[in-house]
Amino acid sequence: MLKSAFYLSPNFPILHGQTGIVNDKIKALKKKREEALLGGGKARIESQHKKGKLTARERLHFLMDEGSFQEIGMLVSHRSTDFGMENEKYPGDGVVTGYGTINGRLVYVFSQDFTVFGGSLSETHAEKICKIMDLAMKNGAPVVGLNDSGGARIQEGVVSLGGYADIFYRNTMASGVVPQISAIMGPCAGGAVYSPAITDFILMVENTSYMFVTGPNVVKTVTHEEVTSEELGGATTHATKSGVTHFACPNEIEAIQNVKKLLSYMPQNCEDTAPSLPYEIKNELREELNTLMPDNSSQPYDIREVIDHVIDAGSFLEVHKDFAENIVVGFARLAGRSIGIVANQPAFLAGVLDIHSSTKGARFVRFCDSFNIPLLVFEDVPGFLPGTDQEWNAIITNGAKLLYAFCEATVPRITVITRKAYGGAYDVMNSKHIGADMNFAWPTAEIAVMGAKGAAEIIFKREITSAEDKEAKWKEMELMYSDIFANPYRAAERGFIDEVIEPSETRLKLIYAFKMLENKVVNNPRKKHGNIPL
Ligand code: HXC
Repeated sequence: MLKSAFYLSPNFPILHGQTGIVNDKIKALKKKREEALLGGGKARIESQHKKGKLTARERLHFLMDEGSFQEIGMLVSHRSTDFGMENEKYPGDGVVTGYGTINGRLVYVFSQDFTVFGGSLSETHAEKICKIMDLAMKNGAPVVGLNDSGGARIQEGVVSLGGYADIFYRNTMASGVVPQISAIMGPCAGGAVYSPAITDFILMVENTSYMFVTGPNVVKTVTHEEVTSEELGGATTHATKSGVTHFACPNEIEAIQNVKKLLSYMPQNCEDTAPSLPYEIKNELREELNTLMPDNSSQPYDIREVIDHVIDAGSFLEVHKDFAENIVVGFARLAGRSIGIVANQPAFLAGVLDIHSSTKGARFVRFCDSFNIPLLVFEDVPGFLPGTDQEWNAIITNGAKLLYAFCEATVPRITVITRKAYGGAYDVMNSKHIGADMNFAWPTAEIAVMGAKGAAEIIFKREITSAEDKEAKWKEMELMYSDIFANPYRAAERGFIDEVIEPSETRLKLIYAFKMLENKVVNNPRKKHGNIPL
């Protein structure tokens, strides 16, 4: 019957499936699709909603541009036959995978469905994720994972473990090639945490998402600690204590909005540059910056205020906001262009560099460098944090991570020293010596081996101890050291500082300098890969 349609005039209406066979087949497909849309069934969907969680498909609806999502593998089902599993199959097998656009740009995505075996990872579930990751790599576009999974599908044993390893391998191969973002939307246990850990950014939802290698029950058995899921691996824990998550979001919608925002600062892949907004240079002076710095150099101020006055209004997306608050990192726009900011925070622990702030900074620098995002550093750092806790936990190795990350970064790199740049921290925080392109300093900058008080105590020890009024002598020597070094001019004389600028000129100078560096090309020596101190 259908065949005869070829012989009809092109204008003749073709009545598809007149016999009903085609119609029935289409109906059967529709039924299968409807079944897949229901995941683990209505009751489980209701239970998901009762927990304050969206379903895998609802999340995709909010994430992707309207109508853009194209599903791949909707009818895939598991192959397991143990424990009667052959009688319990759900089309899609607990993960919705596909591609579409976010703000008009191609993104590959998977969304785990907790209503199907708790979103646990079977062999086929893993294959679906691997398929979209492979496509993302071939086509150079980001991968977003919406995770809600009880880990390895227990009924499948080693086959599931193999599936995880296939994903971990792809995560690693994709690292630095395409951006990878993991949103944690539910309990993620066991293997479900290691794939996100390899990706570039993790977002968690407060009170409904958890990440742990082993849950509270196992913890109790092994270490006899009594701990709730929230305490052990909730969003707040990972945003403040462990630093595992970069964002703790109050609800799923905000988590999804943050994923979209994050992507807006990133290129599609490592060969690409991040999208820029059109911008015309106008009056870029910011007089407010001239009055922001306290007269007393020991007094704190919030570096975020400096950042806000320098960048395009309202463009700062802070990453790792509540972890290692002595360093502030995040994305912003400067004259429409995406940049990464790393800034010491004098308002928290005087902006000192310690283990956590070093690793936080290093990871962010490496992300920006991987994806061609220029780096802007604001420096006000009294040095590295002394003490047994820091030394025994390897501040040497961890501080070296930040040093290494800056040294190997080839993107345009600019530093503004607002106040203190003491000791090794001067070198580490994107100094010219380790490859920064431009270093500016405010007149309030103090660039020296250490603070004047400590320096005087060491180099004028003899004069101080032999003086009648030791305190007065110490003060005198401190002032002398401070006169010589507590300023930016010694460094400027050497050319270590390219220009001493009024704070109000900072935005203007940075806009021109980053524009000048737009076509920067630096090729580090050819190697297999470096050996960052881990
Ligand atoms: C198969 C699973 C499952 C799993 C949950 N389910 N986890 N099915 N494999 N790993 C199923 C449950 O049987 C249940 O099915 C449904 O999902 C919902 O689970 P509940 O326990 O009712 O939900 P909830 O109380 O919210 O608890 C969620 C949970 C808990 C915290 C994730 O289910 C849990 O602890 N699961 C096991 C976690 C785990 O140990 N995973 C293995 C980790 S080892 P029904 O039919 O009732 O809806 C691992 C190794 C990989 O991942 C290592 C690689 C490095």
